[in-house]
Amino acid sequence: MTSHKTAAVGIIGGTGLTSLSNLDIMAEEAVETRWGAPSSALIRGQLGNQPVIFLARHGNPHRIPPHQVNYRANIQALYDAGARVLIGVNAVGGIHPDMGPAHIVIPDQLIDYTWGRPGTFFENDLEEVTHIDFTWPYDREARKLLIDTARSLNLAHSDFGVYGATQGPRLETAAEIRRMERDGCDLVGMTGMPEAALAAELGLRYVSLGLVVNWAAGKSEQIITMADIEEAIRQGMAGVRQILERSMSGLGQLVLTPRSS
Ligand code: HPA
Repeated sequence: MTSHKTAAVGIIGGTGLTSLSNLDIMAEEAVETRWGAPSSALIRGQLGNQPVIFLARHGNPHRIPPHQVNYRANIQALYDAGARVLIGVNAVGGIHPDMGPAHIVIPDQLIDYTWGRPGTFFENDLEEVTHIDFTWPYDREARKLLIDTARSLNLAHSDFGVYGATQGPRLETAAEIRRMERDGCDLVGMTGMPEAALAAELGLRYVSLGLVVNWAAGKSEQIITMADIEEAIRQGMAGVRQILERSMSGLGQLVLTPRSS
């Protein structure tokens, strides 16, 4: 394995984004970390002239369910490879009335409902107990770049949103979604945590780029089908790919300066 020290932007592709067709691939690296192996090989390449490292969160082909993703290995592997800005692409269910299928959301907050997932790097062999500040889970500057890019591309998007992270792999009941709505959640997904917290523990700039693929349970007359989800992915993922490509040079600038919020 070669070791590269160039700082890069990392992209964690989720459901519907297991590869990047517009990425000029330079190398594929199967890596190991002290937490085990990440979900897939790291794909190193160039997107919009910017060094990028791509990782498929659920493996490629898509086979690891959200509760079994080794989030620690994924974040550690990207960090070790030089990623300093991370974009987590997330397929989500829409709770907020503006956030229907194929809508793009750059959330600004999250609530964690997951359980039993290894969620910290700070355990075992500690010299002191460490509590990171997590007031703002998503990097302010990286969010602004994604939002400005979505706006300049004229894509239907929301520049706010509370992401509720559920355990899965089953979808929610209508009552669970009503409770999440009362809690203030606008979106629901299964992979946003502990990914965001682990990135923060390593001092990475982390941002989520959400694509709504269905109305959350009880938010439409219909039940949720995989066929409808696939259709929303088909409609919306092109916009996600465009945002990634167009925001890359700006995000590339951010790798040089540490997270500020
Ligand atoms: N719930 C949880 N996770 C999801 C959903 C949902 O409705 N859609 C896509 N990911």
